[in-house]
Amino acid sequence: MDSVEEEIYQVRKLEISDKNKGFIELLQQLTVCDSVSDEAFLERFQEIAKYGDDHVICVIQDDNSNSGRIVATGSLFIEKKFIRNCGKVGHIEDVVVDSSVRGKQLGKKIIDFLSDHARAMGCYKVILDCSLENRPFYEKCGFKQKEIQMVKYFI
Ligand SMILES: CC(C)(COP(=O)(O)OP(=O)(O)OC[C@H]1O[C@@H](n2cnc3c(N)ncnc32)[C@H](O)[C@@H]1OP(=O)(O)O)[C@@H](O)C(=O)NCCC(=O)NCCS
Repeated sequence: MDSVEEEIYQVRKLEISDKNKGFIELLQQLTVCDSVSDEAFLERFQEIAKYGDDHVICVIQDDNSNSGRIVATGSLFIEKKFIRNCGKVGHIEDVVVDSSVRGKQLGKKIIDFLSDHARAMGCYKVILDCSLENRPFYEKCGFKQKEIQMVKYFI
């Protein structure tokens, strides 16, 4: 990425108007994500906003191509624990970069933003789940593999 692109691809927090800039379509590149009505989006946005800095969703808007589309996103929520002297852990979720702009360090920018936020909020670590395929990406972002993930789906 050249320095002009570097300046254009800035990470910022999700805004309500991002729904009309392809935010949901971007999430559909990650996993099953049905279309979301404006009302449902607003309700969930406001619910998340109540958590303030304990739950952030960040995005990168593509002002490079005049499209103004949202091309990258990721989220972080902060879990408050009793262990580790009432420590806090950051959980990173829902990281995706639009297929047209992958390989331009945007994913790394998103992870760095969320990790910096977790550190600034006093978390002693930040964790996430990923596929084996994405392990090299997260290693480039300074993460290391530890243990395994277990899951039980209810739907
Ligand atoms: C995984 C993903 C977020 C990476 O985003 P990206 O913007 O393409 O990655 P970056 O350009 O920031 O990559 C940073 C570094 O990781 C490397 N990297 C990225 N993906 C990689 C992969 N799958 N295998 C090996 N290396 C990879 C890049 O080459 C780059 O290395 P460099 O700094 O030496 O040049 C993106 O491919 C994506 O959205 N995939 C589909 C959704 C998904 O799987 N999300 C993750 C859910 S856990």
